[in-house]
Amino acid sequence: MSNVAVITGAASGIGRGLAERFAAEGMKVVIADVEEAPLAELAADLSAKGATVLTVKTDVSNPDAVENLAVQTLDAFGAVHILCNNAGVVCSRPIWEHTLADWEWVLGVNLWGVIHGIRAFVPRMLEQGDACHIVNTASILGLVGGGGEGIYKVSKHGVVVLSETLADELAQKGANIQVHVLCPGWVRTGILESDRNRPDALQSPTERTRSHEPIIGGSRNTRAEMEAGLSPAEVAAHVYNAIQNGTFYIHTHPEHKAWIRERMARILE
Ligand SMILES: NC(=O)c1ccc[n+]([C@@H]2O[C@H](COP(=O)([O-])OP(=O)(O)OC[C@H]3O[C@@H](n4cnc5c(N)ncnc54)[C@H](O)[C@@H]3O)[C@@H](O)[C@H]2O)c1
Repeated sequence: MSNVAVITGAASGIGRGLAERFAAEGMKVVIADVEEAPLAELAADLSAKGATVLTVKTDVSNPDAVENLAVQTLDAFGAVHILCNNAGVVCSRPIWEHTLADWEWVLGVNLWGVIHGIRAFVPRMLEQGDACHIVNTASILGLVGGGGEGIYKVSKHGVVVLSETLADELAQKGANIQVHVLCPGWVRTGILESDRNRPDALQSPTERTRSHEPIIGGSRNTRAEMEAGLSPAEVAAHVYNAIQNGTFYIHTHPEHKAWIRERMARILE
């Protein structure tokens, strides 16, 4: 297994699970997030277990910050082998009611964050030549349609097609970089509290007056659905296995495949 992994959105949830798993596998981990306190807590925890950790405060929606993440990684460890573009946020209301700030915030983190990651890291990985992996976190909502989570779905569909394009183009070039796209269903994380990281400049004046519980999987009982979801450690195990096996689409909830088939059938009909 490779030895340097960079994870964005590492302070919580799936990102934290990935950092813990990679560290447990003996990798050096670079953990990046906007939330400094939980990031420092994770770094202390991993270091106490003997891991080598670099913490880089990073807002993935900012290209300079992601470039800095790449520079700091290479300065500290001289190489990068796994990049997990994982940071993400959600915000939900009928699609025509979303404010420009909603669009800018969610696309900025979920889609531009991945774009910045690719622009900063792929050229360095190509130059390095070692076997590398890029894991982009999309969602089952990047593979299906329907109502609910409009901006989130736009962003995650973008991440899926971006990953497909990247994988094909790297393969055509004969590059030693494998791409994976993580498409989970519910996972027990802090995603429903995404507002905690919403920048002041991108607040929506109406945000707190509306109900915007996400409707993921067609259900409004969001909190209960999430609590019944997978743990971040289980998702990290799927990712670890996909890296070992060269799997491109990482499905964590096989029961959702029916949902994907339904959409494809509707398209073809
Ligand atoms: N939880 C789920 O059910 C689920 C399902 C499918 C996909 N996902 C995706 O998994 C990824 C991780 O989310 P999670 O569920 O672990 O939620 P989470 O809230 O626990 O973790 C997300 C992390 O991203 C960080 N973050 C937010 N904005 C950021 C920014 N601008 N720059 C850097 N970091 C930022 C947060 O501080 C947080 O630590 C997201 O891309 C999310 O869309 C989650």
